[in-house]
Amino acid sequence: MATVTFDHVYKRYGDVTAVSDLNLEIGDGEFMVLVGPSGCGKTTSLRMIAGLEEISEGQLRIGDKVVNDVAPKDRDIAMVFQSYALYPHMSVRDNLAFGLKLRKVPKSDIDKRISEAAGILQLEKLLDRKPKELSGGQRQRVALGRAIVREPSVFLMDEPLSNLDAKLRVQTRAEIARLHQRLGTTMVYVTHDQVEAMTMGQRIAVMSDGLLQQVGTPQQLYDHPLNRFVAGFIGSPSMNFIETDAPRDGTMELSTGDFHFPLSDNFRDALRKDAASRVVVGVRPEHLELGDVAGTTASIQGTADVVEYLGNEELLHVTTGGREIVAIVDSSHRVRPGDVVQLRVPADKVHLFNAETGASLVRTGDTAPTAAG
Ligand SMILES: Nc1ncnc2c1ncn2[C@@H]1O[C@H](COP(=O)(O)OP(=O)(O)OP(=O)(O)O)[C@@H](O)[C@H]1O
Ligand SMILES: [Mg+2]
Repeated sequence: MATVTFDHVYKRYGDVTAVSDLNLEIGDGEFMVLVGPSGCGKTTSLRMIAGLEEISEGQLRIGDKVVNDVAPKDRDIAMVFQSYALYPHMSVRDNLAFGLKLRKVPKSDIDKRISEAAGILQLEKLLDRKPKELSGGQRQRVALGRAIVREPSVFLMDEPLSNLDAKLRVQTRAEIARLHQRLGTTMVYVTHDQVEAMTMGQRIAVMSDGLLQQVGTPQQLYDHPLNRFVAGFIGSPSMNFIETDAPRDGTMELSTGDFHFPLSDNFRDALRKDAASRVVVGVRPEHLELGDVAGTTASIQGTADVVEYLGNEELLHVTTGGREIVAIVDSSHRVRPGDVVQLRVPADKVHLFNAETGASLVRTGDTAPTAAG
């Protein structure tokens, strides 16, 4: 069984706490993505699974076995690095074979595994070339191949696509997803790119500043972010945030400038319980709709300063009360720069956060996610 479990794991470098109290269970055969901004502790977490970083506190288990003190070579994992780390003087074939020879795998076995991996990754015609005779995407496939031939019980990948251009990145993304479907091996994949995380992960763990913020399926994170950080990090363009005073008891509406949001019982209850003095309303750009503002929905009025035409849609940068709101609307509306627009938001698409703690006050929808996913 190849589950990976972080149990109250810390990693400290002197005064720096790179990873703090990490609790995360990665299922057998699961594709888990660790995502977050630079320096949040993704690589450190991955390297602890690989055994390349010592664990300062807590327990790391692979399957049922505590591996804190198990050497990297005895962990049955294979890691793909951002830099590929291929041997430049060796052919593709020898690069693939190298780790297996070190492990004294019989020659016939090595040949079989290389031909299988080459088949999966379409490297058959490249086996006799040196890395410098390959494109970036082909080198990346060799790096993946070297991990595959090991037949590990867990794959670790640290930003393996970041050296590829945009088009190749999309292609290789799909290749890795296909690879996972085919092999069914547990994979832990690190990226700072939320699009990569959303498209590839079966579940996503969002980190910030060494702290795990939320774990869930892409849809759970998108629909029910537990805090303002996750809400702003997941989704593109980012969620709009509007900060305002919390309403006093009895007020039926949140409003600031040309933004109005009638409060349902549900929201009024949440506000009463939380007792926040300032709140942040969150609305995703794609949930704003152009049109007449009816009295019962949340609405924003403003001036569309910039209109970016995207074909089927257009992106509006709307200024209202000194702040900018981004909206994505159907391009058939043909908004012109300088137009005054009215935008409404379905009540169930509005998020509300405590301005100080960032915690979500109301979980819209019917399923309340848990921090453990
Ligand atoms: N050997 C080290 N000594 C001291 N601090 C370190 C060391 N390695 C990492 N750190 C610190 O630990 C924190 C987490 O680093 P880590 O490399 O895990 O970030 P990351 O999420 O992978 O970022 P990136 O997206 O930039 O790769 C950072 O603040 C980093 O400066
Ligand atoms: Mg990193």
